[in-house]
Amino acid sequence: MDINLVQEKIENDLAGIASLQALEEVRVKYLGRKGLIAELTGSIPALPVEQRVAFGKEVNALKNKLLNFIGEKGKALKAKGGILKKNNLDIGMPGIARELGSIHPITRIIDEICTIFNRMGFSVVQGPEVETEYNNFTGLNIPLEHPSRDAFDTFYLKNYSKLLLRSHTSPVQVRAMKAHKPPLAIIVPGRVYRPDAVDASHLFMFHQIEGFLVDTNIRFSDLKGILGLFAKNVFGQDIKMRFRPHFFPFTEPSAEVDISCIICKGKGCSVCGRKGWLEILGCGMIHPNVFKQVGYDAKKYTGFAFGMGIERIAMLKYGINDIRLFFENDLRFLKQF
Ligand code: DAH
Repeated sequence: MDINLVQEKIENDLAGIASLQALEEVRVKYLGRKGLIAELTGSIPALPVEQRVAFGKEVNALKNKLLNFIGEKGKALKAKGGILKKNNLDIGMPGIARELGSIHPITRIIDEICTIFNRMGFSVVQGPEVETEYNNFTGLNIPLEHPSRDAFDTFYLKNYSKLLLRSHTSPVQVRAMKAHKPPLAIIVPGRVYRPDAVDASHLFMFHQIEGFLVDTNIRFSDLKGILGLFAKNVFGQDIKMRFRPHFFPFTEPSAEVDISCIICKGKGCSVCGRKGWLEILGCGMIHPNVFKQVGYDAKKYTGFAFGMGIERIAMLKYGINDIRLFFENDLRFLKQF
């Protein structure tokens, strides 16, 4: 038997030992009464006389090496077992992998839209979600008898009749214009609240982005240009846009803006209700009465404003058919963004 081969085999066996039990098995296999070392020793008498001494020395050296290794390894394994018992800590145990999170689709759209308007020179401003009745309605030229002021359409704070949860981001127009003189170009992302029954397209809380710009000589065509750039940036360069006359108390003239359906490209499909167009926002030229409320000279300044629902934009852009998905924290949904 080639003693070098035996040594190699032993070294391989020893390398994988991780427990005292495995170590004992290896000890018996090599050093036991019927073990390999005993076998090698037993083969000595059969050798030619002149080889016996040298071979005997080699076997002895191998045996000592083995004894030494088993002794050291035994000590090390016992010490490790000791640490494990004392601190209940297994330093060899694999760690817990941390999963990488991702940006929530609503946050993603808000960031994207704010970046588009930032590049056009708009600043991002935020306002409080608990608003005064004045900022949410009166300052925006919404008359006392307007149905949106009804408790069915707005959450009023119990015991604070003049406070409410803002029903749109437009009150930040009043705040910003009272705090700053023109020119100003501002964009306002944030949460808004309405006591709507929850279904696939309604929630009692959702997000809006408001935008407004005031300066001298601002025209409706400026509004069209800015919104056209916005729509193309969000939905693609080949998107078409149209303005439909509408009414909002805080703008005059007012319009609703549609984009050509991103699914059927205007041919008509189930997403656009066979119309070929999708409504994305409301807008208009800021009403002189709003300027009066904030103390701006309505003869000197003009401006435009617009407001849109973020969930709606996200649903159209990503093809999502139920608004509730955004807020159920279902990772199977959220991980897609
Ligand atoms: N505040 C409106 C809403 O919640 C949206 C809106 C329409 C905002 C026209 C505007 C605007 O600034 O000019 O329905």
